[in-house]
This record gives sequence, C-alpha cells and structure tokens, in this order.
Amino acid sequence: MLNLLLESERAGAVALEQLAGEVEAEKLRRFLLGARDEEARNAQSLEALIRDNGGTPSDKVGPFAARVAALESVRDRLNLMSRGQEWVARKAEEALALAPPDPIHDYLQAMANRHRAEVEWGRAEVIRLLNADK
Ligand SMILES: [Fe+2]
Repeated sequence: MLNLLLESERAGAVALEQLAGEVEAEKLRRFLLGARDEEARNAQSLEALIRDNGGTPSDKVGPFAARVAALESVRDRLNLMSRGQEWVARKAEEALALAPPDPIHDYLQAMANRHRAEVEWGRAEVIRLLNADK
C-alpha cells in the first residue's frame, strides 16, 4: 500500500513537471512547480518510511503520469491532477485502516489530510490563475 502511494506521488511529480513545462503563465507555472516539489518530498518521505520499517521501496512510477500526458488541454490535465490528489487521499485513508501505530499511522493521517486540503485549495487556485491569464 505504501509502495502504491510512493509510485503515485512519483507519477504526480512527473506529471506536474511536464505540465509546468507547457504552461506559459508565470504564476501558474510557479504554482505547479511548487506542487511538483511537494509530490517529490512526499515520495522521499514514503521511501524512507518503507525502508525504515523493513520494506523495500518500489522504484516504479505509477501509470498516472502517462494518463495526464495523454490529455490535450492544460485545463483537462489540471482537472485530472486534482482528481489524482483526491484518489491519493482516499488510498491513504484506506491504508490508515491497515496501518500499524506510529510512525506509519501518523504519516498516513497527515498525508491524507494534506491531500484533502490540497484538493480544495488547489482547485480554487488553479481556477484563479487560469482566469488571471486571460
Ligand atoms: Fe500527492
């Protein structure tokens, strides 16, 4: 389950990196690069969490990056990114039910909360930045 989340966060970082490269609006690009850094940090923490608890971290990238790249418009990609964050929040909550107590449980709880907050805030921010560009 942690490896699934790890692969997904990696895919998110790749998708955001590609998307940021195609966006011309400076503020939106910076926002996307900030989100990419956040995904990359999550992937690093998950890797450490898996390793420190006796597991072997996956070195794969989830299929999500390719699904985002296959979409035509920036707006569609941003919408799919947002649904991806929601999916990760849901998976982190599912994993919580199986997680041993700290530190894995605490980490997953924080990760689920962060993703829930990012879905709400990210959507509003993307709409604002897309409109500011017109
Ligand atoms: Fe994420």
